[in-house]
Amino acid sequence: MTTGARLDGKVVLVTGAARGIGAAIAAAMVREGASVVLTDIREDAGRDTAAALGPNALFVRHDVTSEAGWTDVLDKAADRFGGVDVLVNNAGLFLGKPLAETSVEEMNRMLAVNVTGLMLGCKLTIPSIAARAHRWDGGGAIVNLSSVAGLIGASFQTVYSMTKGAVRLFSKSLAMECADLKQNIRVNSIHPGVIDTDMAADVARGQMDARGMDADKVRRFLIGGHPLGRLGTAKDIADAAVFLASSESAFMTGTELVVDGGMTAR
Ligand SMILES: NC(=O)c1ccc[n+]([C@@H]2O[C@H](COP(=O)([O-])OP(=O)(O)OC[C@H]3O[C@@H](n4cnc5c(N)ncnc54)[C@H](O)[C@@H]3O)[C@@H](O)[C@H]2O)c1
Repeated sequence: MTTGARLDGKVVLVTGAARGIGAAIAAAMVREGASVVLTDIREDAGRDTAAALGPNALFVRHDVTSEAGWTDVLDKAADRFGGVDVLVNNAGLFLGKPLAETSVEEMNRMLAVNVTGLMLGCKLTIPSIAARAHRWDGGGAIVNLSSVAGLIGASFQTVYSMTKGAVRLFSKSLAMECADLKQNIRVNSIHPGVIDTDMAADVARGQMDARGMDADKVRRFLIGGHPLGRLGTAKDIADAAVFLASSESAFMTGTELVVDGGMTAR
């Protein structure tokens, strides 16, 4: 399975890795020589995704909102691979609807998964990453999935944007804290445009409902938001995650890496 060596010997933990961007990140990390712990609440898909990656991949069922769940995942990562060097907080939910139709319960669920889950992951994984960071040029790494929705405004997804904006500044502040504490851990966020996954279908559905557009028109509308003339692929984001996990980004921390086909450059 190994075709590169940019992450040789590193152990990477990827949340929400059963499908979509997380699955592509896990596959790219294994290809670059890493051992990968994939976690998700989707048990069957998660097991299948990990099995396809061979012996350097381990699936653990895990809800990122559960503190006890994080402890269990970290114990299993330590037993199987010796610890964790890179954390990719990828698990996330989308909510696409007008604010007037958004309930407090829906907002709290979005905050729990997209923000609390990510905070717990960083807090509980940092000791393992810090203990092993001296082994690597560029130290340990945390990669947090934000979004263009964490950079600019967009209609009919206010609560999603709220969570992704939180991820952006949480990541910058944690980058400063890890540097001040000399933990040798770099923390960066990735900001994808619309990426062609199951979540993109949710994005399209939200816009269709709110704007009264049919599916074709919404797809053209979404593609039209990207100057490069297409939606992104999960691989586009996986390539960025490999870069941030590797020593090639050794002097980058607190950065927002925008992978959006030019959307936010306009
Ligand atoms: N697809 C896009 O257009 C896009 C754009 C910008 C940012 N992102 C972000 O990228 C990340 C991945 O998105 P995707 O497109 O692959 O979405 P996806 O819905 O295809 O995959 C997300 C995965 O997260 C898992 N998940 C959800 N709640 C969880 C929980 N509580 N605990 C553990 N796992 C959980 C899901 O089961 C799923 O497998 C998300 O954080 C998303 O917000 C996606």
